[in-house]
Amino acid sequence: MCGIIGVVGAPDTLGTLLEGLERLEYRGYDSAGVALAGAGTTWRARAAAGTESVAALVKECESAPMGFSTGLGHTRWATHGAPEAVNAHPHLDCSGHIAIIHNGIIENHSELREELLARGHVFTSVTDSEVLAHLIEEARRDGQDLTEAVRTSLLVISGAFAIAVLDATEPDVIVAARRISPLVVGTAPGITYLASDVPAILDKASAFYAVNDDEVVRLGPEGFRAIDLEGAPVRLRQLTIDWDLETAEKGGFDDFMAKEIAEQPEALRATLLDRRRRDGAICFDEMKISDDELRDVKRIVLVAAGTSYHAALVAKYAIERWARVSCEVDIASEYRYRDPIVEIGTLVIGVSQSGETIDTIQATREAQRRGARVVAVANVVDSSLAREADAVIYTRAGLEVSVASTKAFVAQVAALELFALRLAQLRGTLLERDVEAHYRGLHAVGAQVQLALSRRADVEAVAAALAGARDFFYLGRHVGYPTALEGALKLKELTYLHAEGYPAGELKHGPLALIEPGVVVLAVATDPSMHAKILSNLAEVKARGASVVAIATDDDEVISAVADFVLRVPATEPLFAPMVDIIPQQLFAYATARALGRNVDRPRNLAKTVTVE
Ligand code: G6P
Repeated sequence: MCGIIGVVGAPDTLGTLLEGLERLEYRGYDSAGVALAGAGTTWRARAAAGTESVAALVKECESAPMGFSTGLGHTRWATHGAPEAVNAHPHLDCSGHIAIIHNGIIENHSELREELLARGHVFTSVTDSEVLAHLIEEARRDGQDLTEAVRTSLLVISGAFAIAVLDATEPDVIVAARRISPLVVGTAPGITYLASDVPAILDKASAFYAVNDDEVVRLGPEGFRAIDLEGAPVRLRQLTIDWDLETAEKGGFDDFMAKEIAEQPEALRATLLDRRRRDGAICFDEMKISDDELRDVKRIVLVAAGTSYHAALVAKYAIERWARVSCEVDIASEYRYRDPIVEIGTLVIGVSQSGETIDTIQATREAQRRGARVVAVANVVDSSLAREADAVIYTRAGLEVSVASTKAFVAQVAALELFALRLAQLRGTLLERDVEAHYRGLHAVGAQVQLALSRRADVEAVAAALAGARDFFYLGRHVGYPTALEGALKLKELTYLHAEGYPAGELKHGPLALIEPGVVVLAVATDPSMHAKILSNLAEVKARGASVVAIATDDDEVISAVADFVLRVPATEPLFAPMVDIIPQQLFAYATARALGRNVDRPRNLAKTVTVE
């Protein structure tokens, strides 16, 4: 989720790069760097100062030599390696002439690193990206020009990337390429730009072109030419950009919330990349807990707040089902003060997008103080929660700006379910072929989420039909229950309307008294094993005059008998369904909030990261 910029032929190369990086900070900011090439040398500056990284880089660049017309800039959202200056991009090869910047994840970086080390290369960072600099260095040594060197190096890379490379021994050239991660090229007379996102070069270039997956582009001052990975020429599609800067930062969406909702397939893909070792074992970012210790875990306690708490609730079902370990989930602020029991074999998992929520950090600290081992599931690399934990699984959803969490939720569920599969592998509670099937199933969820997102217009129609409603009950059973809690939370946060999530079975123990005409009941009805029970719950509320909305699978032919409105989703394995079923609920909350004129990115009274108790 890093930001990338490159320029060839500009009169003020460094100024262009630094200005572009400031505009890319919304993609990540834990470190930033630039490289300039010309006259046989490459000059590089990097800084890691959290949210102030680009400002710190500007200071570093005060001593930059003049006269370079080729340059690259990068602002990082760490995935592999702590957010320190040594891991900041650009990365150099052994000669110091080649500089690369990378956004994405190179899945086979550990094998490539081992091979390159054996051939005498010296690495100066712990990033996955640095392998590319050394691969390109070898290809250059074999006599390939920079374009060919990048092309052949990419043939051995698996994973996602948007990269840009320069080499002082072939000045006035940048070679860029992409797979999955975004990349655009921009042109102006005598100057060519590239960027991960349009805002970085919006007011500089006059024409914009999209680089497609597995295409390599050679940029010079006079323009660019593109080839595919076989070396055949390709044409880049010109983009029509009529955005202002503010719209461009939101990727063309009206607000960050819409952008982040749309980014969920990508968040899932990134979270699931590079999670299997060659021997088939599921692996995580940092693991200071031995396999033996994990195998012998007796009890798991998940602690979290807000949306992360709902993801943790989903995880309980997966951990108990697959790994057969007893599991409980606690609101972080409650866990800490209830004199929690920690015995030998208690593992505590702190789940937090920011990794800075004070309640969650204090809960895991309390657990550690009592002798528990702690796993962090966090989105922000090197956040306090991640630093203090014994093991870390990063969700890699990218920077989440909107206060109400969306893409972090699906990424957390995916990461926690991966963890459940790892536990099942170690404990032998699932056959390896079932682990494999679930692992593949998880990778297929992104496409199902995409399909659910494509049905936005259906959701908007339902939201319009229910405009004016003031009371909402969200019901679900099994993992549909935490999904309903999260759906209700989204509606509350974004619209300020009254919404409550309930286990559908509890309906008759209280909430049924509140059901009357005008009340909306939204039910998650996608789990076949719970279907009959949900149908009878819906019949009960319908009989009392509620308007019923059901989230149901495409093949559900009976749901219309009890629901006034049906929001369809593709069917998936029930434990994966929360990631799909939450999509229409997010879209519903969003559409309702927009209709009410709410500020969806910054709901009143709420904060993105709560660092006070
Ligand atoms: C705040 C945010 C929520 C978030 C919660 C937990 O309430 O507004 O969107 O779910 O904190 O945050 P965390 O960073 O720990 O996931």
